[in-house]
Amino acid sequence: MSDPSPDLTIAFAHKAYQLRDEFLTRGRKFESFEVRTLDELERRVGDADILVVSGLWRNELVNRAPRLRLIQSISAGTDQFAKAMLRERGIKLASAQGGNEIAVAEHAIALMLALTRHLHLARDHQSGRHWRPMIGDPSRREDELHGKTLLVIGLGRIGQRLARLADAFGMTVIGMKRTPQPVPGVARIVSPAQLLDTLPQADFVALTCPLTPETEGLIGEAALAALHPGAYLINVARGRVVDEPALIEALRRGALAGAALDCVYDEPLPASSELWRFPNVLVTPHSAGETRRYESRIVDLLLENIGRLQAGSALRNEIV
Ligand code: GLV
Repeated sequence: MSDPSPDLTIAFAHKAYQLRDEFLTRGRKFESFEVRTLDELERRVGDADILVVSGLWRNELVNRAPRLRLIQSISAGTDQFAKAMLRERGIKLASAQGGNEIAVAEHAIALMLALTRHLHLARDHQSGRHWRPMIGDPSRREDELHGKTLLVIGLGRIGQRLARLADAFGMTVIGMKRTPQPVPGVARIVSPAQLLDTLPQADFVALTCPLTPETEGLIGEAALAALHPGAYLINVARGRVVDEPALIEALRRGALAGAALDCVYDEPLPASSELWRFPNVLVTPHSAGETRRYESRIVDLLLENIGRLQAGSALRNEIV
């Protein structure tokens, strides 16, 4: 890869990740700066040729960014970017697909294990110093993933990895995607048109799809009604893939056994949300993708894409 020219300026915009520190360890000689808030980003985005960003992105920022040529997304999902507008302005966009694939798939398995083994309830009991007695009623007892059926909605890198992990736990994995090619660990592929017919067979439904016009509200009233009452919903995709009011209503009437939600409509989840209050709902703060490996993977991708940009070739994970 050729060295980036020293007059390129790279802006790192993230609330928490230490991306610039990692970048500086790679010995590059050109300008870079880091911002932590939207205010700062608004003030300084005009100095950036390359922007590394995820949740701080707002489409209006392009009006303040005349030099911008490349956005390297820090997130795998890129639903926050208006792609047509970027294309029109000649700004390239690459996703971070792959950067959190291991973390998100492991998080989904962790959520499934937690719900099945009642870890969420055990921790609740621990805070009250309560040693819960053994459970006589088998239908209320801890259970096993082994032998259960998992429907994975979205067989991208995360969904495929989750399928392999679930297969190793002895689960039967059904995968939903538009094209029917076989995927390792997936016993059967179904198309989106078969969703409602397939849901009743699922003990777990894991959402690992991007948010698109096709997936928005996919798990709505009809899908929730198709679940059997012992089923769990795992959302490590985007909040809006689920119709949240319909989910709350389904949980209220016991239409499913529970849910683990890493993402919701409004993040942070407002204190007033009913989702906080269900004992059979496990909420994690959009942390499925977090890992100590994040910075190094994003900087690897960024450096590769700067090289590709300069060589005029297609980006890795090119979206626009
Ligand atoms: C996280 O949600 C991501 O899209 O990477």
